[in-house]
Amino acid sequence: MTAATADEDATVEVVVVDGDDRHVLAVEPGRTLRNALLDADHSPYASLTSRFNCGGRGVCATCGVRVRTGPEPDHWHDQLAARFGYPRLSCQVTVDRPMTVELVDKHVWGGREQNADTDPDGPRSRSR
Ligand code: FES
Repeated sequence: MTAATADEDATVEVVVVDGDDRHVLAVEPGRTLRNALLDADHSPYASLTSRFNCGGRGVCATCGVRVRTGPEPDHWHDQLAARFGYPRLSCQVTVDRPMTVELVDKHVWGGREQNADTDPDGPRSRSR
């Protein structure tokens, strides 16, 4: 085994639960969970916040995920989130061990889509 191969093998398993689906990612240790999720097309954001967020600086609180198993929180917001059962900030979680995380449904004010088949006012009601 060459050194390059050993480096390539040095990944951490991250299981992503998205509804009924489970995906297994091989993540380079030291990366933030946020960036690993984005790179694997498992965004922690809602549609609006995927464009408008703090870029992983830990101030917008839009990148929350449920960490089922993983590191203990060390960011102040992350500690409060864990204590009170809110989603933790994926941008403040360093992938340094195997973990299981769950993507959460995000409903941003004014952003929830309505079903045109069941909404008597149809799609136009979205703009109210
Ligand atoms: S990206 Fe803003 S708090 Fe995580």
